[in-house]
Amino acid sequence: MKNAANPTKNPDISHLNHSHSAFHDALLTWFDRTARPMPWRKSRDPYAIWISEIMLQQTQVQTVIPYFLRFLTRFPNVTSLAAARLQEVLKLWAGLGYYRRAKQLHLAAKMIQSTHKGHFPQDFLQILALPGIGRYTAGAVGSIAFGLRVPVLDGNVMRVFSRLFAFKEDIAQPAVQKKLWQIADQMLPAFRVGDFNQALMELGATVCKPVAPACGICPIHRWCRAYAENRVEAYPHKSARKKATILQHVSLVIHHNSKKLILKRPDGGLWGGLWEFPTFESRCRKFSSADAVRWVLENMGLKVRVLGGAARVRHQLTHRTMCYQVFRMRVVGRKLTTARRLPFCGPHRYESARWLKTIEDVPIGRVTEKIAAVAAVERKS
Ligand code: ADE
Repeated sequence: MKNAANPTKNPDISHLNHSHSAFHDALLTWFDRTARPMPWRKSRDPYAIWISEIMLQQTQVQTVIPYFLRFLTRFPNVTSLAAARLQEVLKLWAGLGYYRRAKQLHLAAKMIQSTHKGHFPQDFLQILALPGIGRYTAGAVGSIAFGLRVPVLDGNVMRVFSRLFAFKEDIAQPAVQKKLWQIADQMLPAFRVGDFNQALMELGATVCKPVAPACGICPIHRWCRAYAENRVEAYPHKSARKKATILQHVSLVIHHNSKKLILKRPDGGLWGGLWEFPTFESRCRKFSSADAVRWVLENMGLKVRVLGGAARVRHQLTHRTMCYQVFRMRVVGRKLTTARRLPFCGPHRYESARWLKTIEDVPIGRVTEKIAAVAAVERKS
């Protein structure tokens, strides 16, 4: 049967799947020569490698480096992280996004402390059993820190493979991903598995890029089927993607005595445990100032007036575009005092409220930083 008709049939990779080959040599030599310096690459400490791999999920190396250094200074090992308060962990994570990662990291540290006496487990299945660790992270930590012969497959590696083998299928399909994991496993070298895995990821990030790949300097282009076809950018093939959902919100920056009102989101769900300005989802793109004032009175018992015109902020998540209409307001009646008056945040209520001079005193996300920045600019109505 032809590959196209049978998405689970593997492509012929017999020229590459020897544990030692010219292919492995070419990739590893290139990695030795050109690997970007990264602080965690100086280390074999599974804890440091684990933190780096979690931070690197969905986040670029240059963004991660300062967060990684701060995190390791404050929490140099599993024991210190396990003993920390979640709010402090979130504070160090603030701005990196995908905050569930920080919560899972904290949970996993507690688990390593209690079940493995503070020592990072060396067994692949025990690593995989930790909260927030999937096959990718277990593969990365296992191979880089302990030299386990296990593969990694992230978005970059998928793109490299889809080009190397001129894959006709959509790599977003679970059946195709299963096949890619098998290929990643068959391609592992006998030695230097961690370096090989990192080299594949590095190649995807720096050479085999989604657009304008630098095939001229690619160490493995002579094995690349897409390159031979002269159609590298045609891979990976994608079926038509769903349009991103756009969600409209109203966000309120309420001032009182040179302080701003900030609320804590309930645990769980998007941005759980982070602080933000009072925000709600609205059905329309343009909410009026009068409606915003009424909303504050009805939902928080605060009398306010609007200062100037509304500003707009957009924030892109993986599958959703979040749009915010931002109102600056000043309290003209009594202050928010009782938790009873906290407004809803999705299906639950906000957990608590504070008036702060500097909102950076509590953990906030990137979108709240953006809202604070536009609200700091005076606007004419
Ligand atoms: N992306 C995630 N982890 C990486 C690593 N260890 N090397 C290169 N790119 C990566």
